[in-house]
Amino acid sequence: MSDGEIIGLGYVGVRTAALDDWRGFATGLLGLQAQPLASGLLGFRMDDAAQRLMLRAADDDGVDQYGWEVRDAEALQSLAARIERDGHEVIAMSPALRAERQVRDGAWTIDPAGNRLEFFHGQARADTPFAPGRPILGFRTGSLGMGHAVLNVGDIDRLLPYYRNLLGFRLSDYTLRPFKAYFFHTGPRHHSLALIENDRPGLHHLMIELSGFDDVGQAYDLAQLEPGRVAATLGRHSNDHMTSFYIRTPSRFLIEYGWGGRDIDPNSWQACELQHGPSLWGHDRDWLSDELKHEARRMRLAAAAAGERAPLRVSPGA
Ligand SMILES: [Fe+2]
Repeated sequence: MSDGEIIGLGYVGVRTAALDDWRGFATGLLGLQAQPLASGLLGFRMDDAAQRLMLRAADDDGVDQYGWEVRDAEALQSLAARIERDGHEVIAMSPALRAERQVRDGAWTIDPAGNRLEFFHGQARADTPFAPGRPILGFRTGSLGMGHAVLNVGDIDRLLPYYRNLLGFRLSDYTLRPFKAYFFHTGPRHHSLALIENDRPGLHHLMIELSGFDDVGQAYDLAQLEPGRVAATLGRHSNDHMTSFYIRTPSRFLIEYGWGGRDIDPNSWQACELQHGPSLWGHDRDWLSDELKHEARRMRLAAAAAGERAPLRVSPGA
């Protein structure tokens, strides 16, 4: 069992056939800072890290890599050794790859679902302050990582031992209805990774957390100017308490744009089954079938009838 080498989600690399659409979307709506990189690559900043979201022009859409941050060289070594002992190949990053990722050192492997996972330490800091693409307070990152990634997988039970026992992700909670989803933490962020079971493998959504509540509301206004841009209405999650909405990106995955996620104490946390589904209110998901939409709505109304509510986490000025 891991001693918790993974700190959080450090970066995500995406390949896309719509790189030009991404630039205006990521800066003008999300508020990221564009950071042109080598030819064919486009990086985006969310904070003082040199890059968080990396895009590569391609003929198709998908995720190239998930970058998980570890504490230091020792943590990288022990995690890599454990993965290898379990029979999975781990490849050290070449100097060229380290330079492209802007990390001191790293290694990568492929998970049983075919996702490329990179582990790294020493992410480069930018030499200029973060300059958001639209006026926002900024993003809540630091030791919490850049947010969370939620992956669609065909069979959660097949992946649980890999992520939990081998990589050391700790179960936060899970829900079985209206869909099966498992949530995992690496530190105080309630989840940095979640798995949703369905037959459309790939990244379901990437959550980025805003420092200011009004930043989310203003993005909600902006997103509604474009037909089809809002994929789930404003709502609040029952487990991480995030108030958020879901945005359709120029690629196939969604961005959850949130505020007010709770902090948990990983040392005392007890995993449980969510009894009222994933949302306390809102989050009407346009990608669900009519039947599942109906069930999700019924569960939210039951949560409301039971008086379910959660405290707010508010930072000064946010
Ligand atoms: Fe999420």
